[in-house]
Amino acid sequence: MLWFIVLNIGVTVLVLTIAGLIFHKVRKIHLASYDLVDKISEIHRESKWLYAQMQAFHSLDRLLQLPAPLPTLRGWAASPDFLLEIAKYVLEAKPETALECSSGCSTVVLARSMQLNGEGHVYGLEHDSTYAAITRRELERQGLMEWATIIDAPLVEMKDLPGHRWYSLESLPHLDNLVDMVVIDGPPMTACNLARYPAFPMLKHTFSDCCRIFLDDASRSDEKEIVARWLKSDSKWMARLINCEKGCAMLWKAQ
Ligand SMILES: C[S@@+](CC[C@H](N)C(=O)[O-])C[C@H]1O[C@@H](n2cnc3c(N)ncnc32)[C@H](O)[C@@H]1O
Repeated sequence: MLWFIVLNIGVTVLVLTIAGLIFHKVRKIHLASYDLVDKISEIHRESKWLYAQMQAFHSLDRLLQLPAPLPTLRGWAASPDFLLEIAKYVLEAKPETALECSSGCSTVVLARSMQLNGEGHVYGLEHDSTYAAITRRELERQGLMEWATIIDAPLVEMKDLPGHRWYSLESLPHLDNLVDMVVIDGPPMTACNLARYPAFPMLKHTFSDCCRIFLDDASRSDEKEIVARWLKSDSKWMARLINCEKGCAMLWKAQ
């Protein structure tokens, strides 16, 4: 009788262990299938953008016909679709003065577009002297030195905007009412909360009546909040979102 009870207990323990193992495996497969669905939709999204970026790069390349290849785009640099938007705008509207918050491939694109127009100049505020030097070298390599000026502009505490660290405007030439285009792709988010917010209040005195602002990374929550605050601060300004990989907000003053 005892051996029968022991056998029963043994069989029960074995069955429960096997059932536990099966449950554990099934649960793992179930969770992995969710992960797989997420990854497939991520790949789908990425491949859609990848094609859009290839097409935008092709158009940009044809428009600009630079003498040397552009450095790697996307990632830290602006994406081809954003660069195409700003190049097209410069070629159509022919701004005389553009001001950039950050520097890099975008500076090359703006300077080359102005060279093609035969008029215009871009001033780039760059907080990091290493990247300022890299951009100057790139402009030289592309034969664009006379179309762009990279200004060393370290990030400083903003007296009028407590909590914000933004570009020092000490070395910016006198541009009051002269800036027809502003391209904002810096400072990096790590500078402070709503890092790009100061651009509008700090540069407003430089805007001409027809000034257009292009803000990169406009799909991020910080940039959405920044645009909302700018619009709230001046009811004459309007904004439109352009469908770019990282989001592009274009702002202008109603005439
Ligand atoms: C978003 S990036 C600006 C890129 C620029 N608009 C372009 O299209 O190349 C903002 C800042 O990051 C810094 N930066 C540029 N390239 C970088 C890199 N490869 N790694 C880390 N920081 C970089 C520069 O100081 C630049 O002003």
